[in-house]
Amino acid sequence: MSRIAYVNGRYLAHRDACVHIEDRGYQFADGVYEVVYVSRGWLVDEARHLERLERSLNELEIAMPMARGPLSVIMGQVVAKNRVRDGIVYIQVTRGVAPRDHAFPDKVRPALVVTARRMAGPSAQAMEEGVRVISVPDQRWPRCDIKSVSLLPNVLAKQAAREAGAFEAWQMDGEGNVTEGSSTNAWIIDAEGRLRTRQLSRAILPGITRAAVMDLLTEAGVEALEAPFGLDEAKAAREAFLTSTTSFVLPVVQIDDAVVGDGKPGPLSRRLGSLYTRHVAGGETLVEAAE
Ligand code: PDD
Repeated sequence: MSRIAYVNGRYLAHRDACVHIEDRGYQFADGVYEVVYVSRGWLVDEARHLERLERSLNELEIAMPMARGPLSVIMGQVVAKNRVRDGIVYIQVTRGVAPRDHAFPDKVRPALVVTARRMAGPSAQAMEEGVRVISVPDQRWPRCDIKSVSLLPNVLAKQAAREAGAFEAWQMDGEGNVTEGSSTNAWIIDAEGRLRTRQLSRAILPGITRAAVMDLLTEAGVEALEAPFGLDEAKAAREAFLTSTTSFVLPVVQIDDAVVGDGKPGPLSRRLGSLYTRHVAGGETLVEAAE
């Protein structure tokens, strides 16, 4: 089956879809993106993703390419045209196409690309056995709350993890505290049994999965402390896990050379993992797509 991409008002064959060489996303990484998980045709937490997209754009003074309603229709169309039952939708908005000049161009229209592809959630093995992470210095800019396509430090961090045989890299600020992973948020249950994740600020992305897990915690009556934690505290933690759109809730069982707890996913990580998996599976099926 050939894939279809939405590019600035047109549905094109994925292999032929392209943007202009002077798109500011290409030249300056002047744009933002979202990744939304599709579960049985349901766009998981779509409203929250669209809200974050609009916020990222506002912070960069890029106009929304269209209102949320029509954008949502296009996302659904791209999912349906690609027959994605379980997978992801990728949305990218850049400032647009203009002759290269650092400052914002006058009268430029934002460029919108939407793609979708099939993708399974985290593997059963990763959920059951947990994953390893390494620590790396956080080399990013001071506006990590904006979901910018400028991801070079994240790319380098993830590559370092891959070369170390690890799943993710947890980035460390100048004080030795963990900010977040290269594409995931970081959580621990510390030695005193407190569930901790860094508070929202310009230092981390406000993860949609993080927000959904916070809701699940509230429903379950489990308190979460939103505060920074040190790498040393993470290594001495009872449990650790990471969250993201594509990783869901994945237990972390090793950080650098330190085994977390007894080296197996802890009870709260497992419980949150199954609650979140249920959340993902819980939406109505909007698009009937053949496998
Ligand atoms: N990554 N932190 C960073 C730096 C991220 O890039 C992401 C998402 C997250 C988790 O956010 P969410 O729960 O909204 O997915 C945290 C996406 C999935 C990506 O770049 O592919």
